[in-house]
Order: sequence, then C-alpha cells, then structure tokens
Amino acid sequence: MEIKKVMVIGAGQMGSGIAQVCAMAGFSVILQDLKEEFLERGFAGIAKNLQRQVDKERMTGADKEEILNRIERSTAISSAGEADLIIEAAIENMEIKKQIFAQLDEIAPQSAILATNTSSLPITEIAAATKRPGKVIGMHFMNPVPVMKLVEIIRGLATEDEVYAAVEEMTRKLQKVPVEVNDFPGFVSNRILMPMINEAIYTLYEGVASHEAIDEVMKLGMNHPMGPLTLADFIGLDTCLYIMETLHEGFGDDKYRPCPLLRKYVKAGWLGKKTGRGFYEYA
Ligand code: CAA
Repeated sequence: MEIKKVMVIGAGQMGSGIAQVCAMAGFSVILQDLKEEFLERGFAGIAKNLQRQVDKERMTGADKEEILNRIERSTAISSAGEADLIIEAAIENMEIKKQIFAQLDEIAPQSAILATNTSSLPITEIAAATKRPGKVIGMHFMNPVPVMKLVEIIRGLATEDEVYAAVEEMTRKLQKVPVEVNDFPGFVSNRILMPMINEAIYTLYEGVASHEAIDEVMKLGMNHPMGPLTLADFIGLDTCLYIMETLHEGFGDDKYRPCPLLRKYVKAGWLGKKTGRGFYEYA
C-alpha cells in the first residue's frame, strides 16, 4: 500500500494545514474544494505559513516554491481517481460526509484509502456509506496542523490492519505522532478536551470568575498553552457546541450537556476568533 498522491477534500483551516504538511513531506497533493475562492484562500494561507519559515531562515525561497508546486488545486471531486489516500476535511455534518464518501467510493481507485479528519463523528457510520468500509479510517489532526504533533488515528469497526499500518507509517512521514484509538464519540481528544471547555463555560455562566481569571488559572496553574475559553474561541464555538452535542447524543449522559451560555453565543453568531467575537473580542 504505497502512498504517493494524497487528495485533501476541503481547503479550510484544517484541510489547508493537512495539504501543507503532506506537501512538506514530499507527497504530491491535490487540494479540492467546491469553489475557486476557497482554494485560493487556503493556498494563500499555506504560502503565508511557508513564507514565515523562509523569513526565519528555516527553508529557502526555492524550497517554498517546490512545496507549493506539489499542491495542485481542483474544484472537481473526480480528481480522486488519481489518489492513493484521500483525507476528507469538509464541514462536520454527517449527511455531507456520507455523500462525499459515497462519491469517493465510486471514483477513487479500489486500493485507495479513504480517511476522514472528523473531530467526533463515528467513523463506522461514515464507512457504511461506502462499499469498502475496510479502507475507511479516521485521521484526526489538531489545529494548527503545522504545529501540533498528534494525529489521532481511529479504527472503524471494519478498518483493515494493513490500512491502519499504512496510515500510521504515513503519519510518521509527516513528522507527526500517531496514536491509535477506537471509534467512540469524541474519540479520546475531544471526549476529554470538550467537557473541560464546557465546564470552563459553566464556570463563567455561574459567575465563579471572569473569563480572563478562568483562563489565567488554567494557563498558569496547569501549564496549558492557552486558557480553555481562549482555546474555545480558537477552535470555534460552533464546533465546540457540535462536539458537545455529539457526545451528549452518543453517550446519552447529561454530564455532556452543552452549557446554555455556549448555545447563546452560537445563536448570537459569536463563534470566536473567526467572527471577531467569542469570549474575547478580536480586532
Ligand atoms: N499555523 C502555523 N504555525 C503557527 C500557527 C498557525 N496557525 N500559529 C502559531 N504557529 C507557530 C508560530 O509560527 C510559532 O512557530 P515557531 O516557534 O516555530 O517560530 C509557534 O507556532 C508558536 O507560536 P506563537 O509564538 O505565535 O504563539 P504560542 O507560543 O502561543 O503558540 C499555539 C501558539 C501553538 C497555537 C499554542 O498557543 C498552543 O499550542 N495552543 C493550544 C492549541 C491546541 O490545544 N490545539 C488543539 C485544539 S483542539 C483540536 O484541534 C481538535 C478538535 O477536534 C477541536
């Protein structure tokens, strides 16, 4: 199962980050999204990240160009016909993911691995939309992808051992650390992270402390690089709510009930850094 060409579906923050690290590791990449403007935005973000590396004298301008040249942009999902590994990083919506996987199953070579970067949706259910559930797997990258070392690799019920092994090896080639987990709501990362963020929001909601104080306690007291409310703004409050709802529904346990304040902010369109306002305001 040699992986040479990777296709990344979705040129948002996660998809463009994944395309960047794949191209940096020498893989040919097809970055796919629905509209040219999404591709241009994602590609510009990659170019900016690489330019920062050039400015810090960690790579040359020629290296940067070589990496960018490895990334082909496409609005056609039919480009999947050329890929050995497809990593889907589209919107977190089960129906949309099922549609994408059913389409990929028709187009991609029989030997191709279909991976999803979903942060909490069941891999086994996504796999069931294809006729090759053994070749479907979760590859959960962390944000910001170029910086974070972890890739949580999630085995669906039917994922074949050789598919797992190929994805694990690929992850190491990306200079990342693979960690194997099974398919349960939120996997490991978000099952633990999101209830902590939700609890921080409850702490604010109940007036225990200000948002700055809550973040300061967790940053200085627990050595977290960001406080939980800053991190929630960074991830996106809509994403945080969606993951909490997935945990709540998946386990049916009220300990995963999303905080009403989180719902209120999302309803207000205060989604965090990306909309300029969340628990903090951004210029
Ligand atoms: N893209 C690329 N590189 C970035 C970056 C980005 N968006 N943001 C920061 N960096 C790089 C900087 O260039 C810098 O690189 P060098 O040290 O090599 O020069 C380095 O990261 C550190 O950046 P800064 O000095 O600007 O800032 P910092 O020290 O505060 O670090 C951070 C920024 C890495 C984001 C750090 O605050 C951090 O680790 N935060 C927590 C991130 C986290 O928890 N991510 C997981 C989110 S959960 C998730 O992704 C899963 C999910 O499903 C929701």
